[in-house]
Amino acid sequence: MLARVRSGALRGIDALVVDVEVDVSSGLPHTTTVGLPDGAVREAADRIRAALRNAGFEYPQRRITVNLAPAGVRKEGTHYDLPIALGILAAEAKPPLPDLAPWCVLGELGLDGHVHRVRGALPIAAAAKRAGLHAILVPAPNAAEAALADGPAVIGVDTLAEAVAHLRGEAPRKPTTIDAAALLSTTPLAASDLADVRGQQSAKRALEIAAAGGHNVLLIGPPGSGKTMLARRLPSILPPLDLDEAIEVTAIQSVAGLLDGRPLVTTRPVRAPHCSISDAALLGGGAPIRPGEVTLAHRGVLFMDELPEFRRNVLEPLRQPLEERRITVARGAGSVVFPADFQLVTAMNPCPCGYLGDAADTCRCTPPILDRYRSRVSGPLLDRIDLHVEVPRVPVALLGDEAPGEETSVVVRARVGAARARQRRRLAPRPVPLNAHIPGREVRRLCRIGPPGRRLLEAASDRLGLSARAYTRILRVARTIADLAGEDEITTSHLAEAIQYRSLDRHPGNSR
Ligand SMILES: Nc1ncnc2c1ncn2[C@@H]1O[C@H](COP(=O)(O)OP(=O)(O)O)[C@@H](O)[C@H]1O
Ligand SMILES: [Mg+2]
Ligand SMILES: [Zn+2]
Repeated sequence: MLARVRSGALRGIDALVVDVEVDVSSGLPHTTTVGLPDGAVREAADRIRAALRNAGFEYPQRRITVNLAPAGVRKEGTHYDLPIALGILAAEAKPPLPDLAPWCVLGELGLDGHVHRVRGALPIAAAAKRAGLHAILVPAPNAAEAALADGPAVIGVDTLAEAVAHLRGEAPRKPTTIDAAALLSTTPLAASDLADVRGQQSAKRALEIAAAGGHNVLLIGPPGSGKTMLARRLPSILPPLDLDEAIEVTAIQSVAGLLDGRPLVTTRPVRAPHCSISDAALLGGGAPIRPGEVTLAHRGVLFMDELPEFRRNVLEPLRQPLEERRITVARGAGSVVFPADFQLVTAMNPCPCGYLGDAADTCRCTPPILDRYRSRVSGPLLDRIDLHVEVPRVPVALLGDEAPGEETSVVVRARVGAARARQRRRLAPRPVPLNAHIPGREVRRLCRIGPPGRRLLEAASDRLGLSARAYTRILRVARTIADLAGEDEITTSHLAEAIQYRSLDRHPGNSR
């Protein structure tokens, strides 16, 4: 007898519906799976056999053929266990299961018949919705995320026996529902607040500009000066996630297997990969293919500490996501595209010994050593970083201060929101209405300056030796500074502040 049920295959952070056909016929006991299954899918038969027996069902001592269609799509992951097991029961069990055709099913089986959580339940539920399916059966820990798709009725189960009892109507389970908007609106503010950072007024100002205009940042300062602390607080001054963004971020974490049963990711992600990270882990890759850190940071912050320590082969390919806000991951014959729209915050010591420009200690690095150190971050990546921010060490006395009186993230976030609204009015209907994303050829038109501003910039160029690229970066940042001030005109004082954030364009060592 032949049974048919649906499941899903992941493609990037999307999915498509897969037909699972199970044929049980007379012949020597043997199970064959066809339709481009990968290792985990081919091994499913062993898990299913044990799970069925231990849950009190029989594994047919006959010839079983499992066909996964469309055949051109690779089937990866362990979530085909449950649909195949139910397909076998539908084809063979007495009493038989009702028709499974309206169902999309996913779940990994333990040998004892437990149903374990899987990756990608949200995108698969969304695919089931697009395909017009009415119900989806998922592992209980995946039920909330599947309900986010707001499509098929979601039934969560913990065991194979529960799934069967529900399908037979013996012990019907309640569909899982979720109020995503309510979850989002009751999200507390980020745990760490800008007010935790004492002093550092100019670094905080730079972070505010970065948040307002979507600019990437490089923090330069000695160890212990608070660079990591500052970087981690950038999301607290970014606008909160809207519902679509929250669902998108949740889908990414679902595909990455990082959701851990949470119904909805409600805060912007911060990812801080170590400098020893491989290109596959940073950019995406592996088998089955997983999103990398650049995708996990989508709609949030990618923090790369000790920037010069990262390997060239991971830094160079960062250019694509920084320009296109997505990443193409090659695999075998084809490729997968993951979203990768993040704000980049990087940090480095001013020199290898860490003390260049430090008030309390002296630097022992020679000019050639300094040059080599800085050249490790020069080039394409530095070109994409609008703000260079010097972060000096804060005096110990200030750290112990009992009455901080520092501005909180809520206050800063409100100014960021107002500046973003101004950009939206000017840049709509662009997909990303942020100054940092104004294309080079349009900078002069959209960030117009008057003759006094031009004179100031020319003088600064002569003095600092700024490149043409640095020039457009200064204009974008000056535009954001004007937007924060609520002004339509970019003034010389906006420009003067923007010029300060190009410290790495100056000749190393000379300017200190
Ligand atoms: N401005 C500051 N306000 C409060 N604490 C600070 C400040 N600067 C440094 N610290 C303390 O020093 C520690 C080290 O800071 P960190 O951000 O790791 O420095 P860096 O990344 O520059 O090496 C922090 O955990 C924090 O406790
Ligand atoms: Mg640090
Ligand atoms: Zn040094």
